[in-house]
Amino acid sequence: MSVSRRPPPKSALSHTPGAYPAVRMRRNRKADWSRRLNAENRLSVDDLIWPIFLIDGQSARVPVAHMPGVDRVNVAEAVREAERAFALGIPALAPFPYVDPSLRDPTGSEAVKATNLMGRAVKAIKQAVPDIGLITDAALDPYTSHGHDGLMADDGRILNDQTIEVLCRQALALAEAGTDCIAPSDMMDGRVGAIRAALDGAGYLDVQIMSYAAKYASGFYGPFRDAIGSNKTLKGDKRTYQMDPANSDEAMREVALDIAEGADMVMVKPGLPYLDVVARVKATFGVPTFAYQVSGEYAMLMAAINNGWLDGDRVIPEALMAFKRAGADGILTYFAPEMAKRLKASS
Ligand code: PBG
Repeated sequence: MSVSRRPPPKSALSHTPGAYPAVRMRRNRKADWSRRLNAENRLSVDDLIWPIFLIDGQSARVPVAHMPGVDRVNVAEAVREAERAFALGIPALAPFPYVDPSLRDPTGSEAVKATNLMGRAVKAIKQAVPDIGLITDAALDPYTSHGHDGLMADDGRILNDQTIEVLCRQALALAEAGTDCIAPSDMMDGRVGAIRAALDGAGYLDVQIMSYAAKYASGFYGPFRDAIGSNKTLKGDKRTYQMDPANSDEAMREVALDIAEGADMVMVKPGLPYLDVVARVKATFGVPTFAYQVSGEYAMLMAAINNGWLDGDRVIPEALMAFKRAGADGILTYFAPEMAKRLKASS
């Protein structure tokens, strides 16, 4: 857009001098070069973590019902996705498994095997693309027949300390498979410290922990639970361990504890509806802070985009920039490859 250098027409000068502001915020917005200079935040491919869904079997891809453009992929295809992500410059993947229902049981026993679907995918990806980061969940919900992240007592309570023992074994299995980073997403009390001790005890001193520190009991996880097949089986809800959406002081306590227990990075989840929490965490603790733009946020945007109600070219980068503005160091987003391609095209 060109800016006229000619003096304005006479009529425009006919206002009373001094009646208008000397400070005009619009001046810095007058042209692209000036807007670029004045931009406070920038979204880069270095900010993106790509969550992917795994499935065992012959078919390379199985679509996820309410996440258009997102498929569950088998191990061979996951390797190709990792190659694709690496070529785009995406720093890390966060794989989640759809575990065959026949392998699910009340104690999530499949979770602790280094050769389970996750373990095999981690190994294969690390072999093919050693320099892409792998951030793998510690939580039992893909593996339990009741769909909860922890072990369940007969009366339906989710058992904290017993769950932690299984999470530690799960973390060790993932470390043995070659993961770079464990991401406890279960919200049991004390699990970060226990997992850190277990990893250190086994010599995995360099395996990082990105804790889902402030994870809310959210309706926005619906499409994810379809993707990993825990929606239909989930008994009740997760409100006895995930946080109440009403709270943010509590999020500060959760984050403080996880940092004290040895978390290298902390996460807030979901994303856009919880940006106030992201901003508070970053301002209060100044630690590497991540946000998860969850499945329901992706579904909402894609539904509107595919209906022609919103313009994806505008809203995808805008939503992701909002995380940066709030202070996030990075974003877990199903839009990662899409956004990485856009960033590449515009650089
Ligand atoms: C479970 C887990 C969930 C997500 C990541 N890990 C769902 C849940 O807590 O029920 C949600 C991610 C998303 O919705 O995209 N440990």
